[in-house]
Amino acid sequence: MRKKIVAGNWKMNNGLNQTTSLINELKELDFYRDVSVMISPAFPFLKTAIDLVNNSSIEVISQNVHQKKQGAYTGEVSVEMLKSIGINKTLIGHSERRVYSNENDTVLLEKVELALSNDLDIIFCFGEELFERKSNNHFQVVKNQLENTVLKLDRHLWRKIVLAYEPIWAIGTGETATPEQAQEMHEFIRKCILESYDKTTSENVSILYGGSIKPSNATEIFSKKDVDGGLIGGASLDAKDFQLIIKANSSL
Ligand code: 13P
Repeated sequence: MRKKIVAGNWKMNNGLNQTTSLINELKELDFYRDVSVMISPAFPFLKTAIDLVNNSSIEVISQNVHQKKQGAYTGEVSVEMLKSIGINKTLIGHSERRVYSNENDTVLLEKVELALSNDLDIIFCFGEELFERKSNNHFQVVKNQLENTVLKLDRHLWRKIVLAYEPIWAIGTGETATPEQAQEMHEFIRKCILESYDKTTSENVSILYGGSIKPSNATEIFSKKDVDGGLIGGASLDAKDFQLIIKANSSL
């Protein structure tokens, strides 16, 4: 059975005080036991966040990690550093890193392999741009993104992988994929995994949708059979909205 997940990607938002108060607010709220809840504050606050969520069901994850083990890479953060403070999961491949930091499939595969071989689980993000959807290339684009990275991995590593389909045109734009568009792509992604591995692998991987999810549209999107949850940007910075989105993904 695959997991239901709602993860907040806080991106480059919130200083120490805001990070602390948002986590304290989240801890006061009731979540639903059938949904795994994750938050990803910025690097400087990860250890504080881990200490704060102690004894709650919230998991702290990282937004990124570097592809090299260690060395002269000024400004970067390694897998080992994250593991040493108790981080066990990271986002990799977010479109903002692909666009603003030029992370291509080759670099992303390096990151994925290094993370997984060191027991740092991943939420692997991908998705097409607007012109690619408009030219009806979105399925091929997504297939290529997967074939160049995670579909190269050994089958046994798939239990450490969550996928997040985030169409770039829906990120931070207020424009969401329709539930039908999300379902259609998630079903296609599962088919790609089935073709590369087997039914167990394709059925057991959680596939999240990301892109302008709000309390008002979450229920409809999460109700689709191949959508196992969401990766939430803007709406995860508001504790109440985040709680409502988690509720929308619960069957309890
Ligand atoms: P928004 O929810 O702000 O559109 O961001 C989505 C996202 O990029 C999550 O990683």
